[in-house]
Amino acid sequence: MTNPTSQLPPTLLWRGDEHGWLEMLDQTLLPHERVVLQLRDVDAVIEAIVHLRVRGAPAIGVAAAFGLLLGVRALAPGPMAFLDVVRSVAARLAASRPTAVNLQRALDRCIEAVRHEPLLARLFAIAQRIAADEVAMSACIAQCGKGLVPAGGTVLTHCNTGRLATVGDGTALAILFAAHRDGVRFRVLADETRPLLQGARLTALELAAAGIPVELIVDSAGPGLIARGAVQMVVVGADRIAANGDFANKVGTYGLALACAAHKVPFYVAAPGSTFDVRLPNGDAIPIEERAGTEVTELAGVAVAAVGITARNPAFDVTPARLVSAFVTDRGLLHAPFDAAIKALFDPGR
Ligand code: MRU
Repeated sequence: MTNPTSQLPPTLLWRGDEHGWLEMLDQTLLPHERVVLQLRDVDAVIEAIVHLRVRGAPAIGVAAAFGLLLGVRALAPGPMAFLDVVRSVAARLAASRPTAVNLQRALDRCIEAVRHEPLLARLFAIAQRIAADEVAMSACIAQCGKGLVPAGGTVLTHCNTGRLATVGDGTALAILFAAHRDGVRFRVLADETRPLLQGARLTALELAAAGIPVELIVDSAGPGLIARGAVQMVVVGADRIAANGDFANKVGTYGLALACAAHKVPFYVAAPGSTFDVRLPNGDAIPIEERAGTEVTELAGVAVAAVGITARNPAFDVTPARLVSAFVTDRGLLHAPFDAAIKALFDPGR
């Protein structure tokens, strides 16, 4: 059986000890070119996150943790206190992408770790721990969700939630990989995910590499196919899940959830604990990243709109909890009422 993790270089790989460097597969060049970047300073990591060379909520959290190590290493020891250096570099990284809470959560874990032990080696150890935790959570999500996949059915997924979006097997795609490894046979419809085509460029590549039958559809085809009974399950990832279960994911997710609710098709959200943000009461409080309009007015660098046409480009949308059939997490399936289920699992004050 083809192992998807054997097909591509690792999404992220740290080389050496705390004086080493971060290797990153440049996802903007996939599927045609496989270029591994060697990042040795925080500016390069920030550039990579902003330009989606690394993307996906768990993966940008891990990249930020190693980016923090690189940034602090360049400035310490120096005139500033170690913890102040850590905080100022973390603030720069935190501003790189605002919606996925994994990024801020990883930086918070790093700051907490060095509060009483202000050492570069400690920062290295916590970055490695964050990466290992994401791998373990991916595996648990896969085990938790694989039984949901309908044998002989068709699953629709949006954006990319595989190994490229995490440092493990993924979230939503990890569930599909695990079901396939168990011998469940099903087909996948991957939508293109305009404007940056994560579905066409990345998801289709990962599923095909795993031997899972996959067909691409344009984003606007999803709801109509759901209405026609061509889809038995939709599974997506998340970038931030509020305390009541409202969640942000790649723009286009909300429309799929509405179609599933209207046509009684199960709609699952797969996410690790690092994606839950119980500080936010509901989805209204989730910051939505607005990206450059040129991502919409151009396709692969070629203008598709007339000169002078501008575009609005929210990178994510918020889906209300009432449209979710269940959350598939590393700690089990969460069913409605989601506020109570999330509080029971993720509220640090419980
Ligand atoms: O803009 P991207 O490519 O970083 O968006 C990624 C998504 O929306 C994913 O669905 C989400 O991060 C979950 S990935 C495990």
